[in-house]
Amino acid sequence: MTLTARRVGGAPVILRPLRGRDRREWEALRVANVEWLRPWEATSPEPLATTMPFRQLVRHFDHEASEGRLQPFVIETEGRLVGQMHLFGIAWGSLRSACAGYWVAESFAGQGIVPFALAAACDHAFLVLGLHRVEVNIRPENTASLRVVEKLGFHEEGLRRRYLHIDGQWRDHRSFALTTEDLGRKSLVELWNHSQET
Ligand SMILES: CC(C)(COP(=O)(O)OP(=O)(O)OC[C@H]1O[C@@H](n2cnc3c(N)ncnc32)[C@H](O)[C@@H]1OP(=O)(O)O)[C@@H](O)C(=O)NCCC(=O)NCCS
Repeated sequence: MTLTARRVGGAPVILRPLRGRDRREWEALRVANVEWLRPWEATSPEPLATTMPFRQLVRHFDHEASEGRLQPFVIETEGRLVGQMHLFGIAWGSLRSACAGYWVAESFAGQGIVPFALAAACDHAFLVLGLHRVEVNIRPENTASLRVVEKLGFHEEGLRRRYLHIDGQWRDHRSFALTTEDLGRKSLVELWNHSQET
């Protein structure tokens, strides 16, 4: 599944699955951004855990997507891979909820790419998958990410104590969410574009 967000004043933001042929570009992107991502990236509480080799990672993403638990997208713009956008922890039944996690390369930060990628992921969650809620959990220190959810009108719901294992420790997170009632079947990408035009 590929999602394309039209973007006022910039190249479209494309969300698509990671593919086997992305290996070289993906690994270069990750290496270039290790320090940029370290304070915000999920880590394993298992001290000896290792990162997955690329091919296994692609297989893992495809498998989790086919089981309906994950929507794993890379972010592409101007023909380049620039980051990641995941809807993870997808729950069905009476909950119908997902969490969004994201990052963009340091060299592409501040260009409004992630707000469009998150808006496109929310449109997909609500209008295609039929989910009811999308949550984003953010460390209180992460002012750039707090701006992303503020721009898109997410509602703050409180503090989750020691919620996620990030950069080697359990970290508190501020919790934000949108539900279908907040959008009334409107496209968040279109609402965000419209707010940029006016
Ligand atoms: C948080 C993040 C995803 C924002 O993505 P983005 O595409 O840069 O989003 P925006 O362009 O809307 O910028 C958001 C804010 O980042 C800050 N910012 C702008 N340029 C920046 C730069 N070059 N470097 C760092 N932060 C910058 C500004 O505060 C901006 O808010 P503003 O538009 O009101 O000025 C991105 O900074 C990132 O990937 N950070 C590292 C990983 C991370 O924190 N992931 C989220 C975990 S919850």
